[in-house]
Amino acid sequence: MRTQVGIVGAGPAGLMLSHLLHRHGIDSVVLECRSREYVEHRVRAGVLEQGSVDLLCRTGLGERLQREGMRHEGIELRFDGESHRVPLTELTGRAITVYGQQEVVKDLITARLDAGGQILFDVDDVRLDGLDTDSPVIRFRRDGREEELHCDFVAGCDGFHGVSRGSVPDGVLTTYERTYPFAWLGILAAAPPAVDELIYARTERGFALYSLRSPEISRLYLQVAPDEDIADWPDERIWAELRARLETVPGWSLNEGPILEKGITPMRSFVVEPMQWERLYLAGDAVHIVPPTGAKGMNLALADVALLGDAFAAWYGEGRTNLLANYSRTALRRVWRAQHFSWWMTSMLHRLDGEDAYEAKLQSSTLRYVATSRAYATSLAENYVGLPEV
Ligand code: FAD
Ligand code: DHB
Repeated sequence: MRTQVGIVGAGPAGLMLSHLLHRHGIDSVVLECRSREYVEHRVRAGVLEQGSVDLLCRTGLGERLQREGMRHEGIELRFDGESHRVPLTELTGRAITVYGQQEVVKDLITARLDAGGQILFDVDDVRLDGLDTDSPVIRFRRDGREEELHCDFVAGCDGFHGVSRGSVPDGVLTTYERTYPFAWLGILAAAPPAVDELIYARTERGFALYSLRSPEISRLYLQVAPDEDIADWPDERIWAELRARLETVPGWSLNEGPILEKGITPMRSFVVEPMQWERLYLAGDAVHIVPPTGAKGMNLALADVALLGDAFAAWYGEGRTNLLANYSRTALRRVWRAQHFSWWMTSMLHRLDGEDAYEAKLQSSTLRYVATSRAYATSLAENYVGLPEV
């Protein structure tokens, strides 16, 4: 097989890149190790920045998003028994939209297949070869048969555990990382959300987040230990802990219902530089991870491939190499802004084990500063809704 851009991974980054390339008349093939059913039902992020919504709408993917996505103009911070609204739209003129990542993935898969695009699901043993030549080859197995995809470029969009990043020779990439002494336990519940806006809560028992997916479905998260076993969290224990961390203001209670899905996500900050080597371009979680507190992961993945789509268009359309040459440097500006914001939100809102009293006082003071200073709240808000220029 032959294509212009071989894309590894059918997450938001790989699918969106394939969609953008198609709109520029550039051919691509997406290789995905999981099934279509699996990637369309993997429950992950839910917050789209204004820029991500604009990108989806501008490229013909806005129809269901505009019908089912929920536009939010503020978020709530709950701490020390009080609740404070950060009026995102009043402070920035922009908003966020709550729309599940798996819905974005479904919309992208439908758009690609309707346009005759090729996504090969259930492939095994993907290997990248000849990345430092003009004609790289992606080798893989499908239905037990060995196959080859010849291309001009490879886009590594295969997430943190993918093979692309590891295909770069030793010594080329520099890694920057931080791990956190906690994880998130996330649930999806058949319970009408008791909120119109997301609640980020800091308590002495740890962090909790109240989010939603629809008028019938709630999405909630709890800070837990990094080595926590989900088997130790029967539904009743989850609800009791959510109540203890969220029902901290008088007269407010959450709605409970059957838990449809639950899982534990580790937290890490991770960046690899540069985001390119020879004919391999890396995007999304394959090159950077943020802790989810800032709701940035999926948005960064989409922002990377928006740059990459334009860069390939300039190369194929006009023979211009400058955007491809600058891809890593340009993308890393946004990546590092999101790294800082995600680290900052995480540090402000989570309980540290054996937390020293000084650290806890700083967290309270920082939250109170956000709650009382328009300047500081604006800084949070503009990062949260996404900065147009970084
Ligand atoms: P991915 O979505 O990871 O897509 C990569 C794709 O590549 C996958 O489909 C994978 O199956 C495929 N792949 C991997 N290896 C190979 C291979 N060798 N060959 C072929 N295909 C391969 N962000 C938030 O903002 N909020 C959240 O609540 C949140 N929750 C998360 C929960 C989990 C468990 C995880 C892992 C991430 C979460 N994130 C969250 C982050 C967010 O979902 C990611 O940033 C986003 O998915 C990045 O998109 P991507 O396309 O770069 O990578
Ligand atoms: C959701 C996830 C996040 O990480 C976040 O910061 C806000 C919302 C969500 O899944 O809805």
